[in-house]
Amino acid sequence: MKHEIPDNSNRSPSPFSPFAFAVIADPHLETPDQRGVEKMRQVIDKINQQADIAFVLVLGDLIWHQPLSELKALLANLQVPSHLVLGNHDAPMIADYGHEFGSVYYTFEYAGCLFVGLWNAVPALSEPRSHEGDLDDAQITWMERTLRNATRRQPSYRHTFLFMHVPPNHDGVEDRSLRMRSPTTELLYRWCKQFSVTACFFGHIHREESFSLADTQFITTASLNWNFPDAGTSNEDQDFGGYRTVRVHERSITHEFKLTHEFGRDC
Ligand SMILES: [Fe+2]
Ligand SMILES: [Fe+2]
Repeated sequence: MKHEIPDNSNRSPSPFSPFAFAVIADPHLETPDQRGVEKMRQVIDKINQQADIAFVLVLGDLIWHQPLSELKALLANLQVPSHLVLGNHDAPMIADYGHEFGSVYYTFEYAGCLFVGLWNAVPALSEPRSHEGDLDDAQITWMERTLRNATRRQPSYRHTFLFMHVPPNHDGVEDRSLRMRSPTTELLYRWCKQFSVTACFFGHIHREESFSLADTQFITTASLNWNFPDAGTSNEDQDFGGYRTVRVHERSITHEFKLTHEFGRDC
């Protein structure tokens, strides 16, 4: 169940054991001819075949013009739980989403690890065309309290993972209008260092990106549905997509992005 970590240290995290999870970014289910929905079904089938996947993170830009019950029905085809955050394009449905799915920021625990989901596409609420990332004050306050309380747990969490839609505005980024604003990026980096975050997961830019700062990995997953030609693969068709598998070990993680058009080659 999604919840905030209470301000006490009485309840210990469950023991760690290695596990894997999947990451889906930017399914854009609204695309013509139900293409997004079909690709989502294809990836759900593929994930269901991976016996080691414990759950799925879905990193926003769902875009669902149908009743949200339809989205729930689609996700119900997964044989493992899914944990969603919203993207900038999902801003118009944020109220309905809250009624159907609960808070847009939350924590959950799995195998002695802490996962924190945030909605960091807040500028899209007031500026629908904005692709910038930012957090509101309520989330920042909640996040500081949540991470501080997490460090009081004994034994401590084996790993802490954050997941949200918009990636940080790090050195070398060309288009900063697609990134978290600089003050929020700096705040994220501070949290990662102060609270020993193992990895953060993002979507939004429709391409693959990965870098590390200190002991934290920042991993952006390309879209399930369509990507820019420079998405870090040899395929130049913008129609391609895929999902990521992350394997969590005691002291590290490994991960790989799987293209949907390669499904079947490993069967
Ligand atoms: Fe997107
Ligand atoms: Fe986006």
